[in-house]
Amino acid sequence: MVERFLHRKVLLGVSGSIAAYKAAPLVRALVQAGAEVQVVMTRAAHDFVTPLTLATLSGRPVLTELVSGGSTWNDHVHLARWADVFLIAPLSANTLSKMGHGQCDNLLLACYLSATCPVFVAPAMDLEMYRDASTHANLDLLRGRNVRTIGPESGELASGLIGEGRMTEPEDIVRQLHQELVGQSKLNGKRILISAGPTQEPIDPVRYISNRSSGKMGFALAEEAAGRGALVQLVTGPTAQHTTVPGIQRTDVVTAAQMAEACKAEAATSAVVIMSAAVADHRPAAPAEGKIKKKDGDLELRLEATEDILAWIGKNKTEGQLVVGFALETSDGLAHAQGKLERKNLDLIVLNSLEDAGAGFGHDTNKVTLLDRGTKPQQLPLMSKKETARAILDRIEECL
Ligand code: CTP
Repeated sequence: MVERFLHRKVLLGVSGSIAAYKAAPLVRALVQAGAEVQVVMTRAAHDFVTPLTLATLSGRPVLTELVSGGSTWNDHVHLARWADVFLIAPLSANTLSKMGHGQCDNLLLACYLSATCPVFVAPAMDLEMYRDASTHANLDLLRGRNVRTIGPESGELASGLIGEGRMTEPEDIVRQLHQELVGQSKLNGKRILISAGPTQEPIDPVRYISNRSSGKMGFALAEEAAGRGALVQLVTGPTAQHTTVPGIQRTDVVTAAQMAEACKAEAATSAVVIMSAAVADHRPAAPAEGKIKKKDGDLELRLEATEDILAWIGKNKTEGQLVVGFALETSDGLAHAQGKLERKNLDLIVLNSLEDAGAGFGHDTNKVTLLDRGTKPQQLPLMSKKETARAILDRIEECL
């Protein structure tokens, strides 16, 4: 079986159907696919599977009541906003009917009404219940509101009857979710190394040399790649960015030397390397051990070159590996970027021009040109860094 990676935050609603016992293997399959899972159960579902089982498998407390223990408010709005996808499996006839008519007498239903993410349901009920005209009318109501259905399947039902109503098997639910949310990305299951942010090179224990990189572009690339099923190693310099997207393994470093060490350790096993970090080219040759005291007159610092990490990765490129660099230029961008592409043995280089308004350091937008060997440079319009990340990864997928 092809391994599928679903790096999504999944809110899993479990309602009262005998198929709720399959919620346990379903949570397991989701977690194994890299998803973070938060379970919300109806009270009726407790009769079929214990919250303890699902809490253990998901690694998070299971929630049922809007207010639990008389004092804890389970914030349905926050839960629904946290989720990238809301999956209700199994969906009982009762919960289906309530969803169809906007009822809101439990946490699961409150989450459904608050959800802005894609909603999937996997109905499960006995033959005649599923055949009933009201069930079909309710499913049509949900489909009309963009709720997507998975199954049910035909087969032997818990009652012993044979026919439609069986919940789709957990592995197949995960496969269908993956197909709908991730599609056929070539990055699925691939290890990808992404560097981000600036580095800081110490002058003394309190001062350093750095640059204006915010890390936004590298983080956008990491999140987009993880969303496509990649297993992302994100090596980042000091930055205010943070990410909660599942599938990203983050390593924090400070100096160019630390970034070199972290990247070299990951490079050989990565199918794709994207060096978007703004690594310092020079560092103080002899950082002072104690704070440098103010003296009269000027202070001279001798800087020495840092190791070019990307050049090392290009030189040690493994079979079939794709190496992508970034170039930030203030003049003659295309010519300089082309030179770096050749010199560092890259497959693709992303040229940022500081001459374009809204592009480069700190902005939420970027305007880049993609250059590879042989084809014409592809200039992309000014876009959000998220959209730019998508375009860069689309291009990488074409190259793979
Ligand atoms: N880079 C790196 N290690 C360094 C310096 C840069 O891996 N010590 C990487 C950056 O992450 C980026 C690319 O190299 O992907 C471009 O860096 P840049 O500093 O612009 O290239 P240089 O060849 O150093 O050229 P110049 O500074 O003269 O523009």
